[in-house]
Amino acid sequence: MNAPKETLRDAASARGMKIGVAATLEWIRCEPDYSATLARHFNLLTPENAMKSGPLRPGPGEFDFREADELSDFAREHGMALRGHTLVWHQQLPSWLPMESGERAVWQPVMEHHIHTVASHFHGRVECWDVVNEAVADDGELRRTPWLEALGPGYLARAFHLAHEADPGARLFYNDYGAEGRGMKSDAVYRLVRSLLDDGAPIHGVGLQMHVSEENHPAAEDLLWNIERLGRLGLEVQITEMDVRLRLPVSPDSLGCQAVITRDMIDACLMADNCTAVTLWGFTDRHSWIPGFFPGYGDALILDAVYEPKPAFFAILDALRHQSSSSGE
Ligand code: XIL
Repeated sequence: MNAPKETLRDAASARGMKIGVAATLEWIRCEPDYSATLARHFNLLTPENAMKSGPLRPGPGEFDFREADELSDFAREHGMALRGHTLVWHQQLPSWLPMESGERAVWQPVMEHHIHTVASHFHGRVECWDVVNEAVADDGELRRTPWLEALGPGYLARAFHLAHEADPGARLFYNDYGAEGRGMKSDAVYRLVRSLLDDGAPIHGVGLQMHVSEENHPAAEDLLWNIERLGRLGLEVQITEMDVRLRLPVSPDSLGCQAVITRDMIDACLMADNCTAVTLWGFTDRHSWIPGFFPGYGDALILDAVYEPKPAFFAILDALRHQSSSSGE
């Protein structure tokens, strides 16, 4: 790769911010460019899949921590903090769970045992946990997941208490998509975390995933407004899964637009005291979930498929280097 001298992680540290990325062990093991770039530019690592309940739980009562531990070791060896993702979600669940049963007697012990075992296993290693992921539906109601059906809305607070008991030093996040700017869903997430706080749940932050596109992304001022209102609740905010997908084939214009969106999101985070990190959902277009999940879209990341930096890479570097004109500094 035509590596710029300055690294994203140094530039981010100088601004008191962390710059993170989702990572997969397979590429660390077999692609030297992947592991070198990961360690060079990022100071925060989220396992893209390895800490989800399905991958961790091959059978009832069984845990397989090998991949997650190897990612955690990689992070430690390279001075990167670790984001745990995720304890309670309705996707990538263990295949042996009885999805047809909506009984509390079945799901309650599963959740308790899972959070206790996993958060205890990573005790002291995980800086932030996404305790609950995507619990709000697109209409703003609580999503009708097996967790809600079996345990009722109290499962959210319970999950935070369990995580806190197992690892009192970890900062605990609620994480969701589509709740970044102004709108019904971001209002619903705001009300949810406010009620968790009112109930005394140990919640410390909100993760805004930021899977966005040219056609659908928050305005920078709306993102800043939302981060700041969460801040007034005493909550930290992190952008946790940013990618900016483009319609294929890309053009110089669309790559430029991707850079502008990226810069705006980073600037908004830099402007808010309670926004502590931006994590990208991968860093090279060689390995991204986007083409598989959004047909017709791709090229959502900051390096191309041969690890060459794209305009969005330089947009992040620029944002981190310069105070934005509207920050008043
Ligand atoms: C995605 C991964 O990137 C894919 O590899 C996997 O097949 C599905 O999950 N929101 C989340 C992430 O919280 O965990 C998802 O990650 C992307 C959407």
